[in-house]
Amino acid sequence: HYLGIDVGTSAVKAILVDERQAAVAEAEVPLQVSRPQDLWSEQDPETWWWAVQAALKQIRATAGAAFGDVCGIGLSGQMHGAVLLDRDNRPLRPAILWNDGRSFREAEELRAQHPELSRAMGVIPMPGFTAPKLAWLARHEPETFRAVRKVILPKDYIRLKLTGDVVTEMSDAAGTWWLDQAKRDWSDAALAATGLTRDHMASLTEGSQVSGTLRPEIAEQWGLRNDVVVAGGGGDAAAGAVGLGAIEDGSAFISLGTSGQLFVTTEHFSPAPEALVHSFCHAVPGRWFQMAAMLNGASCLAWAAHLLKQDIGELLCKAEAAYRRPSTILFLPYLAGERTPHNDPYARGVIFGLSPETDQTDLVQAVLEGVAFSFADARRALEQAGTSLTHAGMIGGGSRSAFWARIFASVLNLPMVRYEGSDKGPAFGAARLARLATTGEAPETVCTTPNILETIEPEVHLVDLYRPRVEAFRSLYQALKPEFV
Ligand code: XUL
Repeated sequence: HYLGIDVGTSAVKAILVDERQAAVAEAEVPLQVSRPQDLWSEQDPETWWWAVQAALKQIRATAGAAFGDVCGIGLSGQMHGAVLLDRDNRPLRPAILWNDGRSFREAEELRAQHPELSRAMGVIPMPGFTAPKLAWLARHEPETFRAVRKVILPKDYIRLKLTGDVVTEMSDAAGTWWLDQAKRDWSDAALAATGLTRDHMASLTEGSQVSGTLRPEIAEQWGLRNDVVVAGGGGDAAAGAVGLGAIEDGSAFISLGTSGQLFVTTEHFSPAPEALVHSFCHAVPGRWFQMAAMLNGASCLAWAAHLLKQDIGELLCKAEAAYRRPSTILFLPYLAGERTPHNDPYARGVIFGLSPETDQTDLVQAVLEGVAFSFADARRALEQAGTSLTHAGMIGGGSRSAFWARIFASVLNLPMVRYEGSDKGPAFGAARLARLATTGEAPETVCTTPNILETIEPEVHLVDLYRPRVEAFRSLYQALKPEFV
């Protein structure tokens, strides 16, 4: 059996799979994000560890004896977060997360001072990435900066707890802005640009290789064998791809979790930094991907449900029952600012076009559409990067809604494929990487595509009606941009 653990932003998710890749047990333990100042987004790394332990307790209770059969663990997690460790490998401060916009100025400075680095790093520096966060730290918390011995990523903090080793793998290292993506190695030049060296970094492995073995005391505590292998694993984007079997050139999907991504696997490193596309190493060797990364995905619907004090499922049902045509209301989904295509941490959510008739259902439809419109921008960014799509899979919590997929298909004019079990997401991909590391099998044999539930085709009349709405959505952001400060 293989265990996949995903350290997400809103929850830790864990899954236990058997040799046939069937889920034996699943668990989810919620996490909170703290936003102590405008633009800030932080989590205490210890809360990840507590949540992982709680999730595994649940898995163990459900799986019973099968839990003792675990021979490999794979890790996945939210990307880009700066976990700052002291000389004893203890966190110096709360982790600064992927959706934290405080280092905007430092990112701009890095871009201006090192224009030659963006191609090799696979994308221009943006505040979500780890490197600008360290530049912010050096300026605003210099004592903490001086005390930093290692900078690691969220899931690699869990690895440290599990194995005692400071190791990362290519697909998460890719999101630091310190990795030379073509060489699959740290870039001394990018590290020097933020006052760091290789010594501050974790050692590198591939996602499908062994990163270490479980510490004996953890194995004993959890009732596991003492030779359990911990695989490199992957950043949540790449691990989600592995779960969906998207490891071949051109395989594309949309991920709708807290954040949103449009992801395409590539067989070569193909950077397009100025299109704000991320060209990063994949979690399997010899593969890369291109990704448009949006900061607001299914979290927008969760936000609306919270505001309206209603259950997400009920809201979706009501919106689907009332749906006739595109809404006259526009929703800009930039609650947490936006990365692709705006690189604007100051952007905010907007509801535009309210009338005396507007009701809750209209708002919910506008929210679903606004998120889909942001993916029209994502698709345009990938096209600028030379990648065109013929269809896309859907994963993440948002993929549970066939209605949302229908809106996506017509907004993007692209067939959307829904798969069985696609909401298992990155944790399932991490379990697959655990298997690859343990057995040494070829990635193609393990990373197969799940059964298709349905393919949702674009509806011609809706495609025509949505086209001008996407244009209006784009104009609205441009018109409001000067107001976002
Ligand atoms: C990807 C990104 C997010 C996080 C969230 O670039 O920032 O998707 O990985 O989990």
